[in-house]
Amino acid sequence: MANPSILILPGDGIGPEVMAEVRKIIAWFGDKRGLKFNVSEDLVGGAAYDAHGAPLSDETMAKAQAVDAVLLGAVGGPKYDKLDFSVKPERGLLRLRKEMDLFSNLRPAQCFDALADFSSLKKDIVAGLDIMIVRELTSGVYFGEPRGIFPDNEGGRVGINTQRYTTEEIRRVARSAFELAKRRGNKVCSMEKANVMESGILWREEVQWVHDNEYPEVELSHMYADAGAMQLVRWPKQFDVIVTDNLFGDLLSDCAAMLTGSLGMLPSASLGAPMANGRPKALYEPVHGSAPDIAGQGKANPIACILSFAMALRYSFDQGAEADRLEKAVEAVLADGVRTADLMGPEGGTPVSTGEMGDAIVAALCASL
Ligand code: IPM
Ligand code: MG
Repeated sequence: MANPSILILPGDGIGPEVMAEVRKIIAWFGDKRGLKFNVSEDLVGGAAYDAHGAPLSDETMAKAQAVDAVLLGAVGGPKYDKLDFSVKPERGLLRLRKEMDLFSNLRPAQCFDALADFSSLKKDIVAGLDIMIVRELTSGVYFGEPRGIFPDNEGGRVGINTQRYTTEEIRRVARSAFELAKRRGNKVCSMEKANVMESGILWREEVQWVHDNEYPEVELSHMYADAGAMQLVRWPKQFDVIVTDNLFGDLLSDCAAMLTGSLGMLPSASLGAPMANGRPKALYEPVHGSAPDIAGQGKANPIACILSFAMALRYSFDQGAEADRLEKAVEAVLADGVRTADLMGPEGGTPVSTGEMGDAIVAALCASL
């Protein structure tokens, strides 16, 4: 059988730096664990715009559709702020999500013991935290029509976006949340604004329907998304799996990520329907952005991107034990006090570079054998 294929899209800002460290990890699994991947690389975001005048070329889109998994770094930067909306770097990422139909976005927020002091919350509130946000990723206000900026009748303008969800869009993401919950703490909390939005009422009813008809054994609760945000910082450990729409998921996942101390730690998986080979369509990316302020300086933390590859091992390649190995290697390195600049406490110390962090994780992988 051919080796599984991975398309790497480093993108902009710190994307290429952190992806270089992921390549070290991929090479290690090939050399030491016999997990060979057929790796190719291409452009996305501002880098693609510079080369082709579009944030994702049709050729790259076709490659992404053909591979077993896509690994993406980050997109965007001040250089592209003035571009027309239709060719902004973010449109490249949104096109990938939409055309690959990656409706289920898994954003785990896990607090590593060694980093519990880095959270802006008290240690006992975050220590041991392990929650999973499942964000709907291909619909809602990000894609709903009508949308645009139009002249109004008073000589001004009106900006319009549409929140829109269908039964099937809600049910399929709810199913993926219940499936995950069964393998974790068996609890799902669904978040919307059913008190002010009809789409929120439908969301609540359809999630309840999937529960009652297909997953009655999983514990389900509902919360308004604003109250959910409040509960996330009040007592985050009450949650196991949170399922929510595209926009609320964007906000709540940044909030949950910061509970863990640094945005530089959080991976994500975006999954679609199974392909002919049984693997889901999949794109893996860190939750953090392109961090243009530190790009090119070797300061970036590659852990979020490396943990995104661990998610690829788990969800695309059925290598749960090897994913555990990689996650444990990251934990060991943190426990040893190895820190990139974003993880320096008030007591200071000398941060390691992006490359040194990658090397330390490779060394910890070697020590795991
Ligand atoms: C995210 C990001 C993206 C989003 C941007 C870069 C388009 O914030 O993945 O959370 O809004 O979905
Ligand atoms: Mg976001």
